[in-house]
Amino acid sequence: MLIAHLSDPHITVGPLAAEPATGLYRALGRVLTLEPWPDCVVITGDLTDNGRPDEYAALREVLGTFPLPVHLVAGNHDRTANLVAEFAPDRVGGGAERASYTIEYDEVTIVVLDSQVDGTAGGTLGPAQLSFLDSELARRTNVPALVCLHHPPIDVGIPFMDNIRLTDGAELGAVLARHPHVIRVLAGHLHRTVSAAFGGTTLSVAPSTYRQIDLCTRPEAPFGYVHEPTGFLLHRITGDSCVTHLVQVSHAAAPVQGY
Ligand SMILES: [Fe+2]
Repeated sequence: MLIAHLSDPHITVGPLAAEPATGLYRALGRVLTLEPWPDCVVITGDLTDNGRPDEYAALREVLGTFPLPVHLVAGNHDRTANLVAEFAPDRVGGGAERASYTIEYDEVTIVVLDSQVDGTAGGTLGPAQLSFLDSELARRTNVPALVCLHHPPIDVGIPFMDNIRLTDGAELGAVLARHPHVIRVLAGHLHRTVSAAFGGTTLSVAPSTYRQIDLCTRPEAPFGYVHEPTGFLLHRITGDSCVTHLVQVSHAAAPVQGY
């Protein structure tokens, strides 16, 4: 089982639309150069820049005829109701309140959570989604599980981003600790590649397909974006093992397909 994990495409419309759209298109094209193809793609949030309906329509255009299943996660730049209105039920589940849902493949269970909260760049899951996660993870304990959300649940040492992380990360960790078959937590938000132990499993944060955030670890350091390579993560699941590869896109001397 191969899962391509993309993040933070920030699709928009208007004069600034070209770069994020091209970034996502090239990343998806790079996915199609992998042999074999991944079984599915997960995009861990900030699908759009402002969560507007016309931006989700633009995202649908970029996805176009891409031939693999694509599972969408809501980020703080998204608006759940508009996301669900455009893509339910084929690329996102849940309802207008929360885009939280479960996909069951033979080799892995994917539980998607929605940490988007209107009016804040930070994220929160809340008791209802944590309870949903607990019950979903209890359904197939003999199959490895991935948990996907936008906001990292722990501090990573970038003060600007740590200030807008998941507020109930400790509660999420407590749920995960009860389910040792969770082999990865997939997140975005950081626009950087980060990995850490968390909740008895491993947290994998994917880079952005659009632009990366500077590794500014001092509180007084100015926050900014840097033109480091775009890319995505490839999670390879065999039995109850998961190995993660970083696949560069923008600076890679590799073919990129169209679709
Ligand atoms: Fe983002």
